[in-house]
Amino acid sequence: MSELFSTLSLRDLEVPNRLAVSPMCQYSCEPDGLATEWHRVHLGSRAVGGAGIVMTEATAVEPRGRITPADLGIWSDEHAKALEPIAEFVREQGGVPAIQLAHAGHKASKTRPWDGNVPIRPEEDDEAWEVLSPSPAGYPPFDGDDPSIRKATPDDIEGVIDAYRAAAERSLSAGFEVAEVHAAHGYLLHEFLSPATNRREDEYGGSFENRTRLVREVTEVVREVWPDDKPVFVRISGTDWLDDRPSWDIEQSVRLAGELEELGADLIDVSSGGLHPDQNPSGGPNFQVPLAEQIRAETGIAVGAVGGITEPEQADAIVRNGRADLVLVGREFLRNPYFGLRAADELADEPESWPIQYRRAVE
Ligand code: FNR
Repeated sequence: MSELFSTLSLRDLEVPNRLAVSPMCQYSCEPDGLATEWHRVHLGSRAVGGAGIVMTEATAVEPRGRITPADLGIWSDEHAKALEPIAEFVREQGGVPAIQLAHAGHKASKTRPWDGNVPIRPEEDDEAWEVLSPSPAGYPPFDGDDPSIRKATPDDIEGVIDAYRAAAERSLSAGFEVAEVHAAHGYLLHEFLSPATNRREDEYGGSFENRTRLVREVTEVVREVWPDDKPVFVRISGTDWLDDRPSWDIEQSVRLAGELEELGADLIDVSSGGLHPDQNPSGGPNFQVPLAEQIRAETGIAVGAVGGITEPEQADAIVRNGRADLVLVGREFLRNPYFGLRAADELADEPESWPIQYRRAVE
């Protein structure tokens, strides 16, 4: 049997294989953050398609934490209710339902990608809102002091932590088995981590300990409400890919991963970049895998690898060679919702891993 289709044990959770659907925003809610039929069919078909873990898109813990007005949210019980049938369906297919808990920070209040992904501001647009940031500047085109970017006050920070706690409680009630804290891609928690965007002078800025404080506090409250038998993941950007200025890098990521493990995180989902347009990523197949591999080697915590993984053999080799414990696949799962079934077939797994309804295709 391939390593990709071996069981992954995290706490008491047995993930049936090492293949996960990477979180991917669908921008498909009306401006209320509620899951729709689109989400049910989109995530459900990937569960039918053989993914061991099916993760929701970035799900906002509070309304101003959405990237666009059409983003998914989990800031009320009604939001949790709308997600419940999705989690149940994923589980019925033998998969593990996971939710990514997110706050978009100063990359919030934008139009959808297909409408240009441009910032919208409350002065000009009814659907816009004031966005939250560690510092009022940092992300072009708002490199000066932008009046519609709010520098997070101590009360705002406490509010974000409380919102994460409530969101985790609701996620559990909706039936999710993995909670992932989104601390990557230039969104709020990453903005605090990186000296390129965090220019605070209080206890949340400056030193490594101060810049990582919010991520640690959020992970702690999520861990507090998430049951002991279920895992918590944290997605980070392993590096900002900004060599020309103080920024977030792999050495800091390794150190943070070790600290998050002590706080009860079970897996670090290692992506990269997204913080600043001047980034210079290497790119290509497996380009982020070395970041995951280094964190795994230097801390011993389980890691997820993601980015440019499109072939079953490639995914299997990442696990087989001890480079990561889990492989997250994004765009290939958009191209082919049944990527997991294709992988099982190509890696000569048993046809039993296909849904009974589809088995005649491979027998
Ligand atoms: C993404 N990505 C992403 N990442 C994340 O952490 N939360 C999210 O909600 C999203 N949303 C999103 C939407 C779409 C349409 C795409 C294509 C990507 C990033 C994604 O999870 C993944 O890390 C990258 O796409 C790289 O993996 P692939 O696509 O090369 O397998």
